[in-house]
Amino acid sequence: ILPLILALVLGYLAGSIPFGLILTQAAGLGDIRKIGSGNIGATNVLRTGNRPVAAATLVLDALKAAIPVLVARYFWGEEAAMLAAVGAFLGHCFPVWLGFKGGKGVAVMIGSLLSLAWPVGLIFCAVWLLIAYTRKISSLAALTAAATAPIFAYVVVGSTNLTLTVLGLALLLFFQHRENIARLLNGTESTIGGDKKAS
Ligand code: G3P
Repeated sequence: ILPLILALVLGYLAGSIPFGLILTQAAGLGDIRKIGSGNIGATNVLRTGNRPVAAATLVLDALKAAIPVLVARYFWGEEAAMLAAVGAFLGHCFPVWLGFKGGKGVAVMIGSLLSLAWPVGLIFCAVWLLIAYTRKISSLAALTAAATAPIFAYVVVGSTNLTLTVLGLALLLFFQHRENIARLLNGTESTIGGDKKAS
């Protein structure tokens, strides 16, 4: 049980590093929590107009999940790797350093899936891109990709543990997107790169 706890804690600590906040402040773009949706994720960093910083946020937020997953798998095995992914997701969404108010988990889910089962990660990215390209709404793309990910995990890999882990991440992602879901339902969700009032 100790390796599993260590994996969870390792994931949490890595996941709780708020790259979106750190990078935007370092680049002199202001406090990302007071811009656009107020979220610390790459989509909202893009609303500052700085594409390289948004891209760096996406990559680093994905890596902060992928690295603990790979480390946990190397030392403690596959179950620990899954717990590291859960830890990273919890750390990103509920970072102790930011009063437990963190991001929505999309980049972290990409990093987790690519490192846990890369074909499922690639499918997640493909679904995200398809919806983002056709509908131009980041949250809708993320929600669609997350909703279908457990199905692909089951069909492509066939592991019950992986499917349940991915389902858990998807449910948390939906919970973190509750304000986006409300806006999608009443037709006020902003488009990618568009403005949105802080919420
Ligand atoms: O990456 C999170 C995305 O799905 C929604 O972000 O800033 O539009 O709430 P945002």
